Amino acid sequence: MTPFSPIQEQIARAVGLLRAGQVIGLPTETVYGLAGDAANPAALARIFSVKNRPTFDPLIVHAASFDKARSVVRGFSAVARRLAEAFWPGPLTLVLPKASWVPDLATAGLETVAVRVPSHPVALELLHSFDGFLAAPSANKFGKLSPTTADAVREGLGEEVPLVIDGGSCEKGLESTIIGFDREKPVCLRLGALSLEQIAQTLGHEILVPGQFDPRLAPGNLPAHYAPHTRLEIFEPGKEGALPDHLPREQIAVVSFSSAIKPGFARGIRLSEKADLNEAATGFFAALRECDRSGAKLIIVEKFPEIGLGRALNDRLQKAAHSFVI
Ligand code: TXA
Ligand code: MG
Repeated sequence: MTPFSPIQEQIARAVGLLRAGQVIGLPTETVYGLAGDAANPAALARIFSVKNRPTFDPLIVHAASFDKARSVVRGFSAVARRLAEAFWPGPLTLVLPKASWVPDLATAGLETVAVRVPSHPVALELLHSFDGFLAAPSANKFGKLSPTTADAVREGLGEEVPLVIDGGSCEKGLESTIIGFDREKPVCLRLGALSLEQIAQTLGHEILVPGQFDPRLAPGNLPAHYAPHTRLEIFEPGKEGALPDHLPREQIAVVSFSSAIKPGFARGIRLSEKADLNEAATGFFAALRECDRSGAKLIIVEKFPEIGLGRALNDRLQKAAHSFVI
């Protein structure tokens, strides 16, 4: 990057806005975030109001490095340290006892704080230039689809955000995996872009995944979430024909993991011809967004295999479908 390239200018502008307590759209490797100064309660309040997010739902604090992340928490246990060293910078969020300076609004009054070091070069550079910490939830209205491009952020939040830094399409396309600790034992609080298999490999054992929809464990991890506006149903692999006969095909949009899609649907998006879950995750939210815009009355999505990122994708799908269960 040259010193005066547009991205540098955007970062410089962002630093000015953040110092003034404003919020900005921030690219990360997972999804775009709506970022504000984590130490400034007025900026945090702005994040909640732009998102229409309930204040019982705590935020993730982003740090420039593992070393910097140390001052957000009261300390890293040996196992937390092992995970941080293995996966930071990257799509892993750790929930640990909070340092006293972290405002209550960031943690929804909890004694713990969620922290991560993102790997997107623009996010890292901004964190270094800002020389502080950024609280950032996904940059969408509460309960809606997470944005994976700068355009999707502008479309969802528009005028309310003075700057969306354009860092291209997100490499992962799914939010970070959140790990909390029951004493020393790691517990998965949200499935995400880092697979449980990768974590188990590093630790040498499987980790606990408590009941998916237990809001006491991960506040904000609600059953209905990540929803498009259009009704969504899930179908078993290859069974799209078995779905609603009350609607003609041209009123249905289909998203398949890897199966070929029959002609005649309003939209047909095949996420990964070679059945690669990473590739599917990258395009997942963008596909739902495109189907949502297609004018179809129903979106049907093929269930993913329950391995690797497939588990996180199925979790998002169930939440999207749940919003329409009456
Ligand atoms: O990939 C990501 O994690 C993105 C990017 C922007 O970094 N951010 C993101 O943030 O997904 P958000 O706000 O959509 O999700 C934050 C979730 C909360 O809903 C809650 O489930 C969990 O993190 N969380 C935060 N603080 C917590 C705490 N102290 N204890 C338990 N869960 C917490
Ligand atoms: Mg979110």
